[in-house]
Amino acid sequence: MRPPLDTPENVEPGNHVAALLRPESAADPSLTSRELASRAFRDALGGFATGVTVLTALAPDGQPVGVTISSFNSVSLQPPLILWSLACDSPRLEAFRRSRHYAVNVLAADQEWISDRFASRDADRFSGVHTIAGMGGVPLLHGCAACFECSSEAHYPGGDHIIFVGRVSRFSRNELAAPLIFHGGRYRVLSDAS
Ligand SMILES: Cc1cc2nc3c(=O)[nH]c(=O)nc-3n(C[C@H](O)[C@H](O)[C@H](O)COP(=O)(O)O)c2cc1C
Repeated sequence: MRPPLDTPENVEPGNHVAALLRPESAADPSLTSRELASRAFRDALGGFATGVTVLTALAPDGQPVGVTISSFNSVSLQPPLILWSLACDSPRLEAFRRSRHYAVNVLAADQEWISDRFASRDADRFSGVHTIAGMGGVPLLHGCAACFECSSEAHYPGGDHIIFVGRVSRFSRNELAAPLIFHGGRYRVLSDAS
């Protein structure tokens, strides 16, 4: 049976390992092999193009919280379930864990600045961001490509992240808005190959 792919050390022999052993990488004395493996692992994961979302909720004290998340994905149509994951060391983890409702705001191509804002150390991430109140008072961001309002269904441990599963209660979609894309550590926009 194959070992689980849960650490860079478990990557099976092949192209990935060959990438780790590239002479220019191995020649850098400032990097340990563990750092190299971790960087190569992240780079390989970054080859999977995703959209960009901002997860929003209300903290127990009623303050809005939000964080940029690309680990969003669909899980089930019946019942309608989605998932995303948040780093265990995020200061917003407890707010999301305790919140009965949250929203997945799928960013549009012109909302790169919102992604940067909600991934920054900015104390007031919502400053200048237009929101309306959704279910449970959760702030919904204006101008997104789509929005999924969820009730919290489950949390699962996932290494250094917590995996959240949400049940979608309401959603909206702006068919005219092109989505913001994240790939290879950079923002991109879709262009028709044809
Ligand atoms: C495009 C993009 C996608 C991200 N996706 C995730 C993610 O899926 N999970 C996560 O924990 N952090 C993710 N981050 C990092 C967080 O947004 C960032 O670390 C966080 O906002 C730091 O703030 P905190 O103080 O709320 O943790 C992403 C950042 C960017 C720019």
